[in-house]
Amino acid sequence: MWDPATYLRFGDERSRPFFDLMARVGAAEPRAVVDLGCGPGNLTATLAARWPGARLRGVDSSAEMIEKARAERYPVDFEVGDLREWTPEADHDVVVSNAALQWVPGHEELLPRWVAALPAGAWLAVQVPGNFDAPSHVALRALTVEAGLGDLARDAPVLDPAGYADVLAGAGCAVDAWETTYLHRLPVVPGADHPVLTWMEGTALRPVRAALSPDGWAVFRDTLARRLASAYPARGNVVSFPFRRIFFVARTQGD
Ligand SMILES: C[S@@+](CC[C@H](N)C(=O)[O-])C[C@H]1O[C@@H](n2cnc3c(N)ncnc32)[C@H](O)[C@@H]1O
Repeated sequence: MWDPATYLRFGDERSRPFFDLMARVGAAEPRAVVDLGCGPGNLTATLAARWPGARLRGVDSSAEMIEKARAERYPVDFEVGDLREWTPEADHDVVVSNAALQWVPGHEELLPRWVAALPAGAWLAVQVPGNFDAPSHVALRALTVEAGLGDLARDAPVLDPAGYADVLAGAGCAVDAWETTYLHRLPVVPGADHPVLTWMEGTALRPVRAALSPDGWAVFRDTLARRLASAYPARGNVVSFPFRRIFFVARTQGD
C-alpha cells in the first residue's frame, strides 16, 4: 500500500527530475496528455499550466494515491488502473511516466507496443531511478535476504540510458536519453530517523514493511538505520545522498 503523505516528504527533491524530463518534451498543443503511475497527481497537475487546452489524465494502480489526487480537485481525470493494461488512444500526443516503471518488471517490452499505437509525432517521456547499486539499495537488498525475504530483493529493474535508446530507436522513434546524479542534501533533524531511512520509507521499503510483522519490521528498520548511518554519515546537520536517475524522451515518426 502507498501512503501519499509519506511519499510527498522530500517533495522538492522528488519533483525536480519530473521538470527536467518535461523540459525536453517539445509538444506545442497536445490534444491529450497521460501520466502513467501518476501517484498523488501533484506533478500531473502542473501540466495544466503548460498545456491549458489539453485533456489531462492520470493513471495509477494505487487506490490511496488516486484518492489523494482526486481530493485535490486538480483539472485532471484520475483513474485507478494498471499501466500494463493501458493502451494509447489516437489523441494521446504526450505520455509521461515519472518514477513508476521501475515497479513494473519487463516494462521495456511495453514501450514498443505503446509506440506502435501512439499517433504520429507523439512524445513519450520517462524517468526511472537508476540507483540500484547505491549503498542504500545494496544495504536494503542484503538485509532483505538476511530477513528471509529474498523474493523482494529486486535486482536493477531498469535499463541504462543506452538500453532504452536502443529499444525506442528500434521501435522507430527519435530518442533523447540521458542520466543525472542529483546530490540531495538532506537535513538531519535531532531526535528523528536518519533522513535516508525516511526517504526510503516513502518508496523502496514499502514491500518489505508489508511483508513483515510489526516486531520483524522494527528490527529490520533499526538494522537498516545503522547501516545507512554508516554509509551516509552526517556532516554537521546534513547528509549527502547522491541519487542517479535515468531519462528518455522518444518521439514517434511522421509529424
Ligand atoms: C514513486 S511513485 C511516483 C508517483 C509520481 N509519478 C511522481 O513522480 O510523484 C510510483 C507510483 O507508481 C505507481 N505504480 C506502480 N506500479 C504501477 C502499475 N503497474 N500501474 C500503475 N501505477 C503503478 C504506484 O502506485 C506509485 O503511485
